[in-house]
Amino acid sequence: MDKFVIRGGNPLNGTVSISGAKNATLALMPAALLAGGTFHLQNTPALRDVNTMAALLRTMGVAAELKGHTLTLDTGGIRHFEAPYEHVKKMRASIYVLGPLVARYGQAKVSLPGGCAWGPRPVNLHIEALRKLGAEIDLREGYIFARANRLAGTRIHFDVSSVGATGNTMMAAALARGTTLIENAAIEPEITQLAEFLVSMGARISGIGTNRIEVQGVDELHAADVQTIPDRIEAGTFLVAAALCGGTVTLKNVLPDHLAAVTAKLQDAGASLAIHPDSVTISRTSRISPVDVTANIYPGFPTDMQAQWTALMSVAEGTAVVTDSIYFDRFKHIPELIRLGADIEVKDNAAVVRGVRRLTGAKVMSTDLRASASLILAGLVAEGATEVLRVYHLDRGYEAIEKKLRTLGADIERVAGEEF
Ligand code: UD1
Repeated sequence: MDKFVIRGGNPLNGTVSISGAKNATLALMPAALLAGGTFHLQNTPALRDVNTMAALLRTMGVAAELKGHTLTLDTGGIRHFEAPYEHVKKMRASIYVLGPLVARYGQAKVSLPGGCAWGPRPVNLHIEALRKLGAEIDLREGYIFARANRLAGTRIHFDVSSVGATGNTMMAAALARGTTLIENAAIEPEITQLAEFLVSMGARISGIGTNRIEVQGVDELHAADVQTIPDRIEAGTFLVAAALCGGTVTLKNVLPDHLAAVTAKLQDAGASLAIHPDSVTISRTSRISPVDVTANIYPGFPTDMQAQWTALMSVAEGTAVVTDSIYFDRFKHIPELIRLGADIEVKDNAAVVRGVRRLTGAKVMSTDLRASASLILAGLVAEGATEVLRVYHLDRGYEAIEKKLRTLGADIERVAGEEF
């Protein structure tokens, strides 16, 4: 397992290009199961999670090849309808194959994902929605066994707004008989892109981008191409890095609308931002002001940016409260930030972050993607050397993060090894 060695203290200056969105890609790839043919997904990020999804689709008979940032999927030879535990345990987004498989092939066997590093993450909403659409579902031997003749349109009201359950339901409903109404649907940009992709495949969907989505089922869909939207979480992470380290950084290939919650909070914290149609420039010269955030569904502050914001607030001039109202126990990064000298206390689903004048380098590690990102950020401003172990978590969701940070002037290197 590789580690990163960071010597903190350098300001960041220059331009960085943001990759395609991981969470959009992980929804677009399984959508290809809904039709036979050749799909091209442009601007696909080269990430471990994308490789994991490609490997899963290959077990079903899909030919998947990533060349540069173009992913080609050929779905002409699908023969297997199973998502084995070996894949699902690596990546919960594997659950996205459930809806397409049941809708097109009338059968699916998908491992239950179980918990994740920071706590339970149920899939009950996915299962209930498919049952409502007429699938027969059994849960046994750690698997979801689903069968259906043809799914039938229905009304689905989600008690909780869920990105994954909205995506799965839209994909299933696209091939159902009749109309499906999805209420309290997720409006995250990745779900909007999935809906638009389905439409380009021949689906009939209205209310896209709202929390009331109507899907009129069709008999057949066809292959299509798509340009994946930029990753708003990668972009947010680089914005926070620049705010932490000081200097002037321009992000290219971004959609600033998708970053609004983060850029507004950064301005409150004392950063200057110049926002253009597809780029954002950030600079900071004064100290960081404390700013509370509450992670919430889109367009609220993203839960996937909560850990990075905590790293920023750990060196602010005062106390900030970082609350997560989506995942109540997503605070595994806090004990590690404390090892770097941060002063943070967790109370229920909130971290009370008392800014300190300096962090100091140490060995740290984390068990999930965004927590690891927050440790990199803290390492960039800590005095001395910080070693972030188990960087494979970062490789799941950030393409070449150390190379991008180095071009901005950070002192960070990847050290290959076995025992980290
Ligand atoms: C997606 C993102 C993840 C992000 C999360 C919230 C992908 C691949 N992952 O995850 O990075 O952190 O959105 O923005 O896109 N819930 C249930 N039952 C369910 C499903 C969800 O109770 O069946 C709850 C969850 O526990 C959570 C809330 O709904 O409290 C939102 O989760 P959800 O939007 O489903 O997250 P994911 O799609 O798993």
